Amino acid sequence: MKEKQDNIYPIFDSMLKREDKEDLLKQRSVMIWFTGLSGSGKSTVAIALERELHQRGLLCRILDGDNIRSGINNNLSFSEADRIENIRRIAEISKLFIDTGIITIAAFISPNNDIREMAAGIIGKENFLEIFVSTSIEECERRDVKGLYAKARRGEIKDFTGVSAPFEAPEHPALVLDTAVLSVEESVNRLLELILPLVSVNNDNK
Ligand code: ADX
Repeated sequence: MKEKQDNIYPIFDSMLKREDKEDLLKQRSVMIWFTGLSGSGKSTVAIALERELHQRGLLCRILDGDNIRSGINNNLSFSEADRIENIRRIAEISKLFIDTGIITIAAFISPNNDIREMAAGIIGKENFLEIFVSTSIEECERRDVKGLYAKARRGEIKDFTGVSAPFEAPEHPALVLDTAVLSVEESVNRLLELILPLVSVNNDNK
């Protein structure tokens, strides 16, 4: 790894900075990192949040599990090592968006504290809002929108989070949303309360 980097000369210093991009966009960027089980509502809430922020003139980018895994990460499985690589790449991509001044919304299971800490380390802890979509396994399995829990129970998918692979709840999330209790609108309102003060310049976007 070290050798491969010997002849690499990053040019970060001479490039325009994040603040230049943020000033252009008249917003501050932040990482909104959803974590939770498959079917917990991460993507649904992320999509609704993006629309609300967009309506307020704020530029966002969603990165979502199934999308990223069918593109840049289509060579990765759900083994522990591949989940780490999945999140590492996503964190690096997120950092590019953050450094472009864009509010970045990630919706990935990201199943344990180590993996989320790695992401926060790459992106910068000060930019990282961890949002725990805490919807219970019982509720996710009852919904089973993609039919994956049924397949996992039948043994047709291995290493399925919550069934045959672990999920570790975050210790200090910025916000907890249980989508069995909260409507999408209520979840988004709680998120807006948290996010708008961080991203708005001159209260323009409220
Ligand atoms: S993560 O654990 O590496 O963060 P990620 O969020 O990218 O997972 O992908 C999760 C999505 O992949 C799920 O919503 C589900 O649709 C699909 N999936 C397929 N196989 C698995 C599996 N074994 N465990 C969890 N999700 C799976």
